[in-house]
Amino acid sequence: MYAGDTVRMNVTSDLSETATVHWHGFHLPARADGGPHQPIEPGGSWTARFDVRQRASMFWYHSHAHRRSGPQVYQGLAGMIYVRDSASEALDLPNDYGVDDIPLVVQDRAFASDGSLIYSTRMHNVMMGMMGDTMLVNGIVEPVFEAKSDRLRLRLVNGSNARFYRFGFDDGRSFHQIGTDGGLLAAPLPTDNVVLAPGERAQVIVDVSDGRPVSLVADGLEIMGMGNMGRRMRGSGPMRDSDRPVDNWMMGDRGGRGGMMGERERRDGMMGERERRDGMMGGMMDERRRFTVLDIRPAASRRRAIAMPRQLATLPQIDPGDAVRTRRFVLDMGMGMRMMRGGGFTINGKSMDMQRIDETVRVDTTEIWQVENASMMAHPFHIHDVQFRILDRNGRPPDAAEQGLKDTVVVYPGETVRLLLRFEDYTDPDLPYMYHCHILEHEDAGMMGQFTVTA
Ligand code: C2O
Ligand code: CU
Ligand code: CU
Repeated sequence: MYAGDTVRMNVTSDLSETATVHWHGFHLPARADGGPHQPIEPGGSWTARFDVRQRASMFWYHSHAHRRSGPQVYQGLAGMIYVRDSASEALDLPNDYGVDDIPLVVQDRAFASDGSLIYSTRMHNVMMGMMGDTMLVNGIVEPVFEAKSDRLRLRLVNGSNARFYRFGFDDGRSFHQIGTDGGLLAAPLPTDNVVLAPGERAQVIVDVSDGRPVSLVADGLEIMGMGNMGRRMRGSGPMRDSDRPVDNWMMGDRGGRGGMMGERERRDGMMGERERRDGMMGGMMDERRRFTVLDIRPAASRRRAIAMPRQLATLPQIDPGDAVRTRRFVLDMGMGMRMMRGGGFTINGKSMDMQRIDETVRVDTTEIWQVENASMMAHPFHIHDVQFRILDRNGRPPDAAEQGLKDTVVVYPGETVRLLLRFEDYTDPDLPYMYHCHILEHEDAGMMGQFTVTA
């Protein structure tokens, strides 16, 4: 899509259950959002019409059926959308789709021996989210890419149901992050890793002019634990292994490493000494495995790289003083009996109710949303309709990698993250947008709420 286009998305369902198609990251009218209020019945169809009012970025779409997002996305109801615009096109960045501009939708899956997908909602998978031991990248296993250009732009979408990853290259080479969920950063950010929770995206530029094969790898990150989690997001430099929250395990998957998860992945490269040591104690944690995302083999003759632009985009100014109010959102999992009864996954103590509008926002206002994590697990908090900015994490400014436009933000245990949102237009007194945890099993279990934007 091109910014400024008017698009009409015609969706027809051949499925045997009700589904939806949500345009994740898009600013659009609530009736076109494709959330749980726009169900498509089996055999039915749905048309969403909207203007593309986005900066260039990679967005994605996926099912958002009430209480069924997890299994439906897992089965394949997800895809990606490129939005282009003239400002980004004018930059000297790799832009040739499939040649030097490569989308990578990353999703872990578990397969049975007959090749069918395993989706299980036993307690552990609801609590931790559904994880698998096989990485699918754009739907395929172990892709190999022949690079015909010295410089590649990789667009990463963490389309996994629950797994958090830290991406990097197996030889530790540095690269540039150039974009976040909703568009380009102000300037390229040199780094050697990018962390993405479910729902988050990033664009990176990697140089392969040395002609050596290299693999993009993703280390699964553990997401349980108290205290240390927030710390690793705060520094300005690349995260080090020693920053990883290995000390504070509250709970692990002691019994859950049977059958469906295969043998442990090899741990080296990006994994540090401390983590290897702790690996014994953390042996029950399925999350911490390494996946190969893409084997890159530079072709013998390649397009030469040109210099990286120094400036990428002008981001909207953020002034918390513009906010007319602050809303608080407390994420909780209500461990123990409450969770066993299925009522534990809440925002502000409430489980998702389709009939209840939780928040009403006035159009043409700016607000601060303060998201607090009262649980023992990290949650990626996603908000429909807007691209927001992160003001601070526990009072400190976000990492450079998070200073762009975002629609999903990780809130670590014990953390308070403040977001600045501007609600420009599109009012609807009845139809709401969603905000929720993007661990899809948490969303399905109720960690979701609804807001309307009204005149
Ligand atoms: Cu990516 Cu409400 O979803
Ligand atoms: Cu969304
Ligand atoms: Cu969650």
